[in-house]
Amino acid sequence: MLDNKIADEVKRFGQSHLLRHWDALTPKQQSSFANQLSSIDFKLIKRLFEGDEAQPDWAALAAAAGPPDAIQLCEASPRIKKEDAIEAGRKALANGRIAMILVAGGQGTRLGFSHPKGMFPIGPLSNRTLFEMHIDRLRAVMKRYHVSIPMYVMTSSATDADTRLFLSDHDGFGLASDQLRIFCQGSMPAIDAKTGQILLSDKGELALSPDGHGGLLAAMAKNGCLEDAGDAGIDHFFYAQVDNPMVEICDPLLIGYHLLAESEMTTQVVRKTFPLERVGNVVSIDGKTQIIEYSDLPKEVAEKTNPDGSLYLWAGNIAVHVFKRQFLESVQHSAEGLPFHHAKKAVPFIGNDGVMVKPSEANAIKFERFVFDLLPMAKTALVVESDPAEVFAPVKNAEGAATDTPTSVKKAISNLHRSWLEKAGASVAETARVEIHPNWALDAEGVRERVDGSFRISTDTYLQ
Ligand code: UD1
Repeated sequence: MLDNKIADEVKRFGQSHLLRHWDALTPKQQSSFANQLSSIDFKLIKRLFEGDEAQPDWAALAAAAGPPDAIQLCEASPRIKKEDAIEAGRKALANGRIAMILVAGGQGTRLGFSHPKGMFPIGPLSNRTLFEMHIDRLRAVMKRYHVSIPMYVMTSSATDADTRLFLSDHDGFGLASDQLRIFCQGSMPAIDAKTGQILLSDKGELALSPDGHGGLLAAMAKNGCLEDAGDAGIDHFFYAQVDNPMVEICDPLLIGYHLLAESEMTTQVVRKTFPLERVGNVVSIDGKTQIIEYSDLPKEVAEKTNPDGSLYLWAGNIAVHVFKRQFLESVQHSAEGLPFHHAKKAVPFIGNDGVMVKPSEANAIKFERFVFDLLPMAKTALVVESDPAEVFAPVKNAEGAATDTPTSVKKAISNLHRSWLEKAGASVAETARVEIHPNWALDAEGVRERVDGSFRISTDTYLQ
């Protein structure tokens, strides 16, 4: 039986079509459908549909955008000294004030991988998966600072069950149960772009998808993560996406800059290599730091250059942030929370006659929140430039694409590890691929402690 309250809501908000096939459902299907319906905020959906026209005017915003005020690599004397930042970051790590957030709720459609992306093998020689690579690195950081660093992994309904099973089958890759906290983000229904009606993916199932990585805030609140972290003495979160195996997890330099600048949200950027690169553009508009997604930045603005020919909007978002816990707490309780971005997509649905329709053109609106929309809400936001060869190689696309493929990512990892060895004086044959497990050495500094000029590599080598 359908709860009267839900039935009334469905009717009141003009969504009665959802119940058209109710009588054809088995009791079990009815119960799971009722569950789904009870999780929908119909008032919000109505407001989002009616406000569709009120989406930001990206062209106007882009026209007003300038480069962000960032700590840049080329600066001879940055406003905060590098050594001071490293020392502050190391101290915060050693004192147990830092936790890590890994967002792993995306579906990896572009990669053409049918499991959660974290299960994708990417170690150039080890074939370690993305999850394993991140956790190995985090554990090496813990070892270096003699401290426990909790890892909060955000999944979605699309990735939750597989992720939990995978991580438990592998004993959390060595993380203790109190160091690994998995929680699931929310979902949002897709609606018909013309009528605002919520779409059905089956007679007793809504067409739902993850609510974007900005769903992090609500999901952390629902699961008590911020309270937990506060009780454990965590003051800041190092945030990264699962798809980038080169993230310098808990980088003391980035954390130190964040702390010494008294920043509420810090963002690591790289210099874009070409105007239409598929990274978010970190910009400053009316003194506020903000990100304009690559898909929203008009071509002519992306192509604007400085007199020396370099890109005017140069700062690419690599989706590595440091958040002050108290900042997340304060925005969690703000009235509106993060805005929803509207994306027009082709979404298959069950029509009123019970038959599946597979549209060839965009028929639906999907709603997603982006975590980086927190930037303009921060009282102080800091932007820090890093070298992409050291920190950024996301796996996004299947083999054959021009960029961000498994092959290009493996090459970037091998090149980085080679550079650590070469900087320490070792010689590595040009044709040899190398991979360094963080237990062997966490970074260039770790390699320097083990290697000298007599160290030679002539064939593919996995140092572990
Ligand atoms: C994203 C950023 C872009 C940045 C680029 C760097 C957005 C909107 N854009 O682009 O600014 O330059 O990464 O690599 O994020 N995820 C969830 N839940 C969701 C959706 C995504 O956890 O509901 C996670 C995914 O697992 C993935 C990450 O967020 O790890 C990025 O999502 P994706 O859709 O791949 O973003 P991009 O378009 O690549």
